[in-house]
Amino acid sequence: MGWNSWNRFACHVNEALIRSAADAMVSTGMRDAGYGYIVIDDCWQGVRDAKGFMVPDAKKFPSGIKALADYVHAKGLKFGIYSDAGTKTCGGFPGSHGYELQDAQRYAEWGVDYLKYDWCNTDNQDAQASYLTMSKALQASGRPIVFSLCEWGNAKPWLWAQNIGNLWRTTGDIADRWDGMDPNGYSMGLLKIVDMQAGLEPYAGPGHWNDPDMLEVGNGGMTDNEYRAHFSLWAMFAAPLIAGNDLTAMSPHTREILLNKEVIAVDQDSLGVAASRVWKEGDAEVWARPLKGGGRAVVLLNRGPTPRQIGVTWEQLRYPDHLVAKLRDLWRHKDTGTASAGTSIVVGGHAVVMLTISP
Ligand code: GLA
Repeated sequence: MGWNSWNRFACHVNEALIRSAADAMVSTGMRDAGYGYIVIDDCWQGVRDAKGFMVPDAKKFPSGIKALADYVHAKGLKFGIYSDAGTKTCGGFPGSHGYELQDAQRYAEWGVDYLKYDWCNTDNQDAQASYLTMSKALQASGRPIVFSLCEWGNAKPWLWAQNIGNLWRTTGDIADRWDGMDPNGYSMGLLKIVDMQAGLEPYAGPGHWNDPDMLEVGNGGMTDNEYRAHFSLWAMFAAPLIAGNDLTAMSPHTREILLNKEVIAVDQDSLGVAASRVWKEGDAEVWARPLKGGGRAVVLLNRGPTPRQIGVTWEQLRYPDHLVAKLRDLWRHKDTGTASAGTSIVVGGHAVVMLTISP
């Protein structure tokens, strides 16, 4: 769990912005809710020095990266940075290809705790080999650094990256919209990304997670109900919860979503089993994941614009019909009674109901 600069600020990063994000992470209560990492995405880089070491852009980061990492650490947070496996990053800055050891060494010296490693400008490089090279370089640096593979799922990293990194993107970039494609023709709406997670659940587990990209909650392109659906589904996927909004200017609704501790608890459940889509009929879907202790988390998803009744059966949850279980609504923060055999609830348009079901 953390925050990354890209979704809201793209290339407009500088040390004041990153410091203010760290400040806000603490003052909003997000750190105490579990958000631990502050990650600078692309565009922090300057040029390499004569020895091949990366130097940050001196205008954007006049105090240097080490001082910034120290600042973030002093807030009780961890610090992350971004590079690319190719010759250049997606933003056109120097990539790490051929400089993996120098870069990993420098990150360790700076106090970096997390590396997001992108896949632009990689020509005919082999994905597995390229990510393994950086993984080994990070290990050789002597500092534990979480390794985030941002390969967009092209080479199916879920099949080979378990021992290379800690999380891997499963798709191209998210767009701040419910469905369809961004006009740029590249980034995808929420439902497109959701559909691409179905079937990947066996590959997620403690220490190696599917990453359906960072959160758009609070960035303005979706309604609050749509953002609740976004946050709920990411928790069901056991996905990294990387906020991508401006933490210094959150609406009360955005805050309430990102700080919903009951939904966060599902995301972080120690069993670490990601949800399966157990039922789908047109715009209505049921996603379910087992929780430690025998309970289930369930999301009833209404993809369509008008309210509809959506049911879940105990059979879908692998419970016997006679089992009596308690229901709790994680957005209303209410126990809503008991049921056996199944339950059925009206779900608003472009919305979810998220429940825990506990025997
Ligand atoms: C790619 C990644 C994004 C972001 C940008 C930065 O598109 O998938 O998450 O890091 O590059 O340029």
